[in-house]
Amino acid sequence: MIEQLDKQYVLHTYARNYVNFKKGINSTLFDENDKDYIDFTSGIGVVSVGHGNKEVAEVICNQAQNITHISNLFAIEPQAKLGEKIAKLSNMDVATFFSNSGAEANEGAIKIARKYGETKFDNKRYKVITLENSFHGRTITTVKATGQSSMHTPNFAPYPDGFSYDNKIDDIYNSIDNETVAVMIELVQGEGGVQPFKKEDIQELAKFLKEQGILLIIDEVQTGAYRTGEFLACNLYDIEPDIITMAKGLGGGVPIGAVITKHKNIFEPGDHGSTFGGNYLSTAAANKVLDILDQYKDSGTLDEAIISFGNKLTEFFEKYQDIFTAEVGLGLMRGLRVKDSDTLSKIISNSFEEGLLVLKAGKNTLRLLPPLTISKEEMDEGFKRLDNALSKIN
Ligand SMILES: Cc1ncc(COP(=O)(O)O)c(C=O)c1O
Repeated sequence: MIEQLDKQYVLHTYARNYVNFKKGINSTLFDENDKDYIDFTSGIGVVSVGHGNKEVAEVICNQAQNITHISNLFAIEPQAKLGEKIAKLSNMDVATFFSNSGAEANEGAIKIARKYGETKFDNKRYKVITLENSFHGRTITTVKATGQSSMHTPNFAPYPDGFSYDNKIDDIYNSIDNETVAVMIELVQGEGGVQPFKKEDIQELAKFLKEQGILLIIDEVQTGAYRTGEFLACNLYDIEPDIITMAKGLGGGVPIGAVITKHKNIFEPGDHGSTFGGNYLSTAAANKVLDILDQYKDSGTLDEAIISFGNKLTEFFEKYQDIFTAEVGLGLMRGLRVKDSDTLSKIISNSFEEGLLVLKAGKNTLRLLPPLTISKEEMDEGFKRLDNALSKIN
């Protein structure tokens, strides 16, 4: 039924799996036949506080019974409080523009960079350097900002000018010219293969760009909201970039994005906007999500989960050396490189049959992004199912 409706009435932009999930409790999902699945994907890094989180649900219900939306023509209390919370948790002197998604947040960041490039230099600077293996979104501009050449299909051309791509962090230094206004990177490339960069390399780049007056934009759409174990990956890398973008885990499932910057006066009224961005519903939910995660971090529960998950992965990496070639990632954003992409596809389908949801990243990375609130029991059960899935390879 769901398959037929979906095929007939929804545009086919995804290669879909037709399981019909009806209910979720933390990291466990139940389909229409009550079969349970352990979720090591959290809806691609979104459901940071788990499925069916009662505390977030209560905040959403209360907010929905009062005001869901006015418009950004009026001050919105939970939005202002969320901006304050982001500044405090990031430990940076920043202000935020709220959007509805990661791509939109990156669009906002690029707009700030372009205006900075227009107003702060003698000549117009507009070029943004990104990395070849990056992913920054699906709008026309963020597709162009994304370095993976497979994304720049002629179908959607012409694309906006002003983007170029480097293979490695080290290459960026030589690509900068007098029209370069910003460098935009992820600190752990998510879609590109769960690939973290070296802290020293990033710190050196941040220092160099600051000296040159070139903006550093860190795309934390996937790494933000405690995914790497700190509120921001920037906190882990100990850098203070000019602009940070967030989305995914920030709302725990309610759509929200954020453009966070220390350049508080570049945008003026009329420069940017969004009808829905930062409305009562999404910001009320995100405030609660951050309170829950902040408490998880403070109590040590998040760090314990990260250690247990990491230990399990190392065990699997050592046990299945014929399948895995490397262990990658940080925090609860982890991956195992698989010897080839066919084997990875088999692992994903075997896992699904065993009742475990896992993801692919890049060509051959098994990507694991569990809810940050995953319980020890769910973790153990998930890895038991992964073991069963892997034992059926070959
Ligand atoms: C690093 C990064 N940037 C941007 C995006 C785009 O976010 P959205 O799908 O919310 O537009 C993603 C999504 O996977 C991402 O991982």
